[in-house]
Amino acid sequence: MASVTLRRLSKVFAGGVQALHHLDLEVRDGELLVLLGASGSGKTTVLRCIAGLEEPTSGDVVIGERVVTQESPAERDVAMVFQSHALYPHLSVRDNIAFPLTVRHVGDAQVTRRVLEAATRLGLKDVLDRMPQQLSEGERQRVALGRAIVRGPQAFLLDEPLSRLDGPLRIELRAELLALHRALGATMIYVTHDQTEAMTIGQRIAILHEGRLRQVGTPEEVYQRPADVHVARFVGTPGMNVLRGRGRAAEKGRVIEAGSLVIPVELSTYEGELQLGVRPEFVGLCAVDHGVGNVDVLVVEPLGSETLVHLNAGGQPLVARLQGFADVPVGTRVGVKVDRRRLYLFDAAGAPLV
Ligand SMILES: Nc1ncnc2c1ncn2[C@@H]1O[C@H](COP(=O)(O)OP(=O)(O)O)[C@@H](O)[C@H]1O
Ligand SMILES: [Mg+2]
Repeated sequence: MASVTLRRLSKVFAGGVQALHHLDLEVRDGELLVLLGASGSGKTTVLRCIAGLEEPTSGDVVIGERVVTQESPAERDVAMVFQSHALYPHLSVRDNIAFPLTVRHVGDAQVTRRVLEAATRLGLKDVLDRMPQQLSEGERQRVALGRAIVRGPQAFLLDEPLSRLDGPLRIELRAELLALHRALGATMIYVTHDQTEAMTIGQRIAILHEGRLRQVGTPEEVYQRPADVHVARFVGTPGMNVLRGRGRAAEKGRVIEAGSLVIPVELSTYEGELQLGVRPEFVGLCAVDHGVGNVDVLVVEPLGSETLVHLNAGGQPLVARLQGFADVPVGTRVGVKVDRRRLYLFDAAGAPLV
């Protein structure tokens, strides 16, 4: 296995779409890094550039110590698993898994051994003689993984490999993938648009937005110390509340005004326009006129262990996450409390204010 490094990687497609802007990223040898971003943010393009399926417009891809930017996909020795697994329909499971080895003219005995090893790891031993159309969706995705494993590549590139699976199966395969990562000590780049998935599997998460890397960090770092408003909104279920407002001097000290909220602050000396961030778990409800402002209840979502209450704070949306079930009638007006130690301040453009 090897590290994978991107150096100032950019990609402009014919027609002028700039998909990637100067990405710098180092995925350590043996690391599982999640590349997280909305649809169209450039995730697949990153993987295709690493695999050699797409030529970067500028910048380099480095695998281990080797600059591979000019090398063919075969020379790079990385395995890519796609969202749509593209198995060969006329080949058995056994031959599908063996395929990368047979095209490389690996000897029969070794092919048999490596296919069996991969199939055992993935729980596919009993279906080796079936054809792809005789498999469940989950089994097909395992075969696609098997095809990557047999090669013993320098790195695995996984492009939303679980997005076609439904709930429980997805969680099951996710756990298997984590076990596989541990067992193989493999370098893996795992692409997803699902931030919950990213938080649960990533040792580190790299957040891509409109072709730019916004932040790279552990799940806790990106949650607790988001690099900008975009990351703050994107990470978390639901994401951070961000309200447009302004800081100003008040009779006693200073306040931040945002929508219908007026929040006394001690630390910020910031004057003028800003954005106020607060996670839904640090927003509470109280009687009218007893909090930092009054809001209208728009929608109430009871989820069992918690209730999400969607509020209108003077024309700006605000979500409160309350424990258990909450008796908050839609259409009523209530007061809002916020935990002032848990506020984030960003400038008007979205950069953190410290
Ligand atoms: N072959 C291509 N030609 C032109 N534009 C492309 C091509 N492939 C991707 N793009 C554009 O590049 C951007 C990033 O795409 P992609 O990497 O597929 O995003 P993601 O995988 O995050 O959904 C999108 O705006 C997409 O339309
Ligand atoms: Mg994609």
